[in-house]
Amino acid sequence: MFRTHTNGELSLANLNEKVTLSGWVQTIRDKGFVIWIDLRDRYGITQLVLDEERTSRELLDSVKNLGREFVIQAEGTVIERASKNPKIPTGDIEILVEKLTILNEAQLPPFTIEDETDGGEELRMKYRYLDIRRNPVKDKLIFRHKMAQKVRNYLSSEGFIEVETPVLIKSTPEGARDFVVPSRMNPGQFYALPQSPQTFKQLLMIGGMDRYFQIVKCFRDEDLRADRQPEFTQIDCEMSFVEQEDIMNVFEGLAKNLLEDITGKQFGDFPRMTFADAMQKYGNDKPDIRFGMEFTELNELVKGKDFKIFDEAELVVGINVEGCADYTRKQIDELIDWVKRPQIGATGMVWIKFQNDGVITSSVNKFYSEEDLRKIAEKFGAKAGDLILVMSGNADKVRPQLSALRMELGNRLGLRKGNEFAPLWVVDFPLLEWDEETGRYHAMHHPFTSPKTEDFSLLETDPGKVRANAYDLVLNGNEIGGGSIRIFDKNLQSKMFDLLGFTKEDAEAQFGFLMNAFKYGAPPHGGLAFGFDRLVAILDGNEVIRDYIAFPKNNSGRDVMIDAPAPIHQEQLNELELKLDLKS
Ligand code: AMO
Repeated sequence: MFRTHTNGELSLANLNEKVTLSGWVQTIRDKGFVIWIDLRDRYGITQLVLDEERTSRELLDSVKNLGREFVIQAEGTVIERASKNPKIPTGDIEILVEKLTILNEAQLPPFTIEDETDGGEELRMKYRYLDIRRNPVKDKLIFRHKMAQKVRNYLSSEGFIEVETPVLIKSTPEGARDFVVPSRMNPGQFYALPQSPQTFKQLLMIGGMDRYFQIVKCFRDEDLRADRQPEFTQIDCEMSFVEQEDIMNVFEGLAKNLLEDITGKQFGDFPRMTFADAMQKYGNDKPDIRFGMEFTELNELVKGKDFKIFDEAELVVGINVEGCADYTRKQIDELIDWVKRPQIGATGMVWIKFQNDGVITSSVNKFYSEEDLRKIAEKFGAKAGDLILVMSGNADKVRPQLSALRMELGNRLGLRKGNEFAPLWVVDFPLLEWDEETGRYHAMHHPFTSPKTEDFSLLETDPGKVRANAYDLVLNGNEIGGGSIRIFDKNLQSKMFDLLGFTKEDAEAQFGFLMNAFKYGAPPHGGLAFGFDRLVAILDGNEVIRDYIAFPKNNSGRDVMIDAPAPIHQEQLNELELKLDLKS
């Protein structure tokens, strides 16, 4: 037997018991006459003690061979510690070692395996298995596991059945690029890895499964960010004989269940906002509503005063940063530089200070009288001590720019607190979005999303105005889930493919299987998928999903530990009948 107990469970209640423990050597403190060893496993740390009085010379000498991260087994007796450590659950006791076995030696780790480590990100990724020994990483994986358990329990209790769908499939259009896998048995042909199980879950509804879910890996070849990984996990769900409201109710229930569990607080009905309102008030379809700074549009107040930039702009819009009128010139210039960075792309920013002494001044005093400025301040509901920041330009550009500034200020001013949760449904998304590059419409969600019945007639006349039965769940400024009511009528589905510029042949080749299935009695259905990694990270007060994935990819999509992707052998290429013609 390797152990009678774990390293996290012994206490004074076990006094004088003979125990066997196993684990990794965290630290060795050798004072000459007494040696302490911290022994670690997933459950905690237990202190081992050996001393000249009570331990044989031979055993004491053998400890000299130990190093950090050696895997050892220790047998001994639980005794009370002279100096207790209230910070850890086993802090009242220690083990007086009688026998010690080295189960495996270890090289000196490349970084310290402690909560505060000296290892940089790249190094820790390369030795991720060592990083996982550290509490901050280990605890996040345990948290993820607990959330997965809760999700499974909740959905199972609501009658959902977990069904696995295939990973080697044909392309599913979720808007990103596919990862593809060549088929040896079908030379020249490729599987695609699922961007989501979208078409399969719809087929499961046609198969009569009624309520489906799956905690499932999805693959998208897209540019990576803190909240995006090329392989990530969804809680994917689909329901039959439902309307949008039914789906939102079930998943609001799930999200509430998790939130209430974590915070111990009750959550009321989640607020809802239309896509159009979200864009107008926050310049963003996933607003963080934990803090204000809502957009105020100024066109009718600022135009016609000879300030060319505002006169020529389609939209002049600003935010009121409460209590920041005392920002120095330097601080404001830094903010202006920040919005001018290429990532944000603004051309400039106007400021208006409602000073504490009541005077209102601005960077455009030349064009606007104090009276003009006072009217603007009034529109913002600003008071003495507030700073107004105004941007202008093309509405489609200036809104996201101001939104980025709002979020940045939210972060800087500490308004985005990890332990505060503000869920929000965003509804009434447009069905289609115009893509300048390709000169045609794209599905905003995916091509299976149903238009709103009342907007059907616009499909012919003004497709860009058609709203979809689509909804996103937003938490703290992050899109944690999205879904829609699906088209279940074969004719409407083929019309949709038409609108999206698919030829009949293309649509048939890509989605013939689905259109065919629709001929055999598709029930009305709809669903949603949560981004599980995002959900878990945010529920744990974080936004970087990489930390919640055991073996994540870096920002270039590489696994630096196993060094993937990597070239394959010529024999493998031959077997696949693939010839590489790389342009360097
Ligand atoms: P959607 O494309 O909105 O919908 O994806 C659902 C959720 O998955 C998460 N997500 C990601 N998380 C991490 N890394 C990524 N690269 C990534 N991409 C998406 C987001 C997002 O809200 N089939 C539809 C769902 C449906 O209609 O039922 C779908 O996949 O949190």
